Amino acid sequence: MDWNPENGSHPNGSKGNGSHPDGAKSNGAKSNGSKANGARRNGSRRPRQGIRHVLVIGGAGYVGSVLVRKLLDRGYGVTVMDALMYGDHGIRDLHGHPRFEVVEGDLRSVESVVRATLGADAVVHLGALVGDPACALDEKLTMEINLGATRTVVEVARGLAVKRLVFASTCGVYGADDGLLSEESPLNPVSLYSRTKMESERVVLAMSGPEFLPVVLRFGTFYGASPRPRFDLVVNLLVARAVAEGEITIFGGDQWRPFVHVDDGAEAIIRCLDAPPDLVRGRVFNVGSDDQNHTLGQIANHIAELVPGVRVLYEGGRGAAEANYRVSFARIRTQLGFVPHRSLAEGLTEIRDAIEQGAVADYAEERYSNYKVLTRKGDMLRRSDSLSASVGR
Ligand SMILES: NC(=O)c1ccc[n+]([C@@H]2O[C@H](COP(=O)([O-])OP(=O)(O)OC[C@H]3O[C@@H](n4cnc5c(N)ncnc54)[C@H](O)[C@@H]3O)[C@@H](O)[C@H]2O)c1
Repeated sequence: MDWNPENGSHPNGSKGNGSHPDGAKSNGAKSNGSKANGARRNGSRRPRQGIRHVLVIGGAGYVGSVLVRKLLDRGYGVTVMDALMYGDHGIRDLHGHPRFEVVEGDLRSVESVVRATLGADAVVHLGALVGDPACALDEKLTMEINLGATRTVVEVARGLAVKRLVFASTCGVYGADDGLLSEESPLNPVSLYSRTKMESERVVLAMSGPEFLPVVLRFGTFYGASPRPRFDLVVNLLVARAVAEGEITIFGGDQWRPFVHVDDGAEAIIRCLDAPPDLVRGRVFNVGSDDQNHTLGQIANHIAELVPGVRVLYEGGRGAAEANYRVSFARIRTQLGFVPHRSLAEGLTEIRDAIEQGAVADYAEERYSNYKVLTRKGDMLRRSDSLSASVGR
């Protein structure tokens, strides 16, 4: 995956012109018009499990923009539904691809969700306010988008006879616990963000049935390059700071987290789309690898090796209510044969090189941080029924 936030390239299609075609508007959702029909008519060249066309909600985001390219490469037709809250940089160059369409809309709008879901065989639901600080800005908005709208998405998907739905949850649902946690461990989320994910998991799994197959993936914290970069994720941020400022500060340092490369996260989603139904129906899988559980102190040491001369400062200790979890990935390894193939060292190097070589001009730019964008645009989002109408790019 190239780190090319300004104009990411993709192997299949021509470069887009950077603008959305002025597609037909319907019920508050904008679509890139003729491509919509073309994409769904052509569908996938290589159907697996009867899935030819995949709707990726939140597909313009950090994970989504990686996933969408992989799906197109593998022959799926793809619709992205997204409010483009952080811009469309991650999917811009895909416009013009014959199996790709965008429905720009707010997933709180039933009409928009229905419009995007029509014709999809599977839904990957990544759309959310993401991250503890971003979600803490406005509890009501967070609940509406992360929990209320998830209910809408699942009900619409089931109602429209979608075969499969993959829901993006987080290992943050485990919260603060010193043991090695499996999918059966008690959940103890310590932030609003993780609570909305825990509650959404229940909504999603409750809809499981013979004709509707939901699966929940609890991802570790992502790192690595994406056409929609994020520098509010701890690994990416620390490396960027180390290179750009020559100094990083670690708060606490003994808190454990599982980490996983964004590329592997996207692969895990595709594994769930391709898997035989009985292996994934109504199941929960942690996504990551046992050897990528690290303390933040260990991450700092890795960065210090990679960026010679960087100063590492430690401040304070870990608060009692702070998330701290080490996770087992045995289930996804043994049952789906899924093992991440990207290492932390590779991810760190990729980000270091992107900053050093200027592929990312300013890692502190607003659009690379969900919290910064939402701090500025929060009022508009609250007042508006349609995020996409209010946010602009
Ligand atoms: N990034 C991580 O480390 C991580 C870890 C665990 C789980 N996850 C989960 O993976 C998913 C994707 O995360 P990401 O890092 O790509 O986040 P992201 O913020 O980059 O992407 C989320 C996308 O959802 C869209 N969106 C948000 N609210 C919307 C709304 N109301 N209507 C339409 N679109 C809306 C945004 O515009 C954005 O493109 C999320 O569900 C997240 O909770 C992420």
